[in-house]
Amino acid sequence: MHISLDKHLRDSKINHDLRHLIVKIATTAKYIHNAMQTGDLGLAGTSNMYGEAQLALDVLSNQIFVNELEDSYYTTCLASEEMEEEFKIPPEKQGKYAVVFDPLDGSSLVNANLAIGSIFGIYESDKIIGLKGDLQVASLMVVYGPRVTLIYTAKNGVHEFVLNAVGDFILSKENIKVEKVAKHFAPGNLRATATEGKYAKLVDYWMKEKYTLRYSGGMVPDINHIFMKGEGIFTYPSYKNAPHGKLRLLYECAPIALLMEQAGGRATDGKKRILDIMVEALDQRTPIYIGSEDEVRNAEKFIA
Ligand code: AHG
Ligand code: MN
Ligand code: MN
Repeated sequence: MHISLDKHLRDSKINHDLRHLIVKIATTAKYIHNAMQTGDLGLAGTSNMYGEAQLALDVLSNQIFVNELEDSYYTTCLASEEMEEEFKIPPEKQGKYAVVFDPLDGSSLVNANLAIGSIFGIYESDKIIGLKGDLQVASLMVVYGPRVTLIYTAKNGVHEFVLNAVGDFILSKENIKVEKVAKHFAPGNLRATATEGKYAKLVDYWMKEKYTLRYSGGMVPDINHIFMKGEGIFTYPSYKNAPHGKLRLLYECAPIALLMEQAGGRATDGKKRILDIMVEALDQRTPIYIGSEDEVRNAEKFIA
């Protein structure tokens, strides 16, 4: 029997508003997928608050998610990697959830036709600063690859759905676990090995131990690989030129850390759980070590 995302949320007794919000995000992801298949791949001519050039597709995806979430009546405020400020929902459209997102993670990979994703964190809150990832009531990521898949947790385990030919997200893998011994490594920011001897030693260790490299340049597909194989590690360390690394706490690391912990894995900044880090600024970054628990602990020893 086919189990839709909506039915899965219902069967998991996820409350009404959160269920509708998650389904709304899933529906909107289909528009994003359509836009990336057919749309303009050029630059928008603007840059985001990280000084990164925005693609027309980054701006468009952000706008589509903002419009749809505002009109859902389930949200209080929105924050996204592609917006400098929090977007406050007008009082007459307010619900109870703060939604934070990276509308298109890995957008520079689109013209190379590699997999990319969207990432969402959901808090029951009317503000964002001062929260920590642990307070998320749900998080999810959508992977736009040869198939479009969605992985969510509402703190009820981690579950994968695949978009079928008639536009429904159908359950494909329930209770995903990352509990096996790692055999794969996905080392982000390898350029840091030029100056960070400890990271260089860690990468060396993986190579000497004959781990298999699986690195795409997109965090979402790289993390998805770990979920699908049930093991692996993804890292994105800091170094002199980027003292907090590159990846964003609010939009990338915290939502994915919640998924990883719900699957039995581990996610830290090298010392501290990602989910324990307080959000002090929308554009806050953090180094990240995430995946199979033992492997992340091993990485922490190397870089300590
Ligand atoms: P975004 O496209 O949202 O700016 O982020 C891409 C991220 C992530 O997906 C990936 O792991 C990382 O950037 C790759 O970083 P490098 O540019 O250092 O390779
Ligand atoms: Mn991103
Ligand atoms: Mn992005």
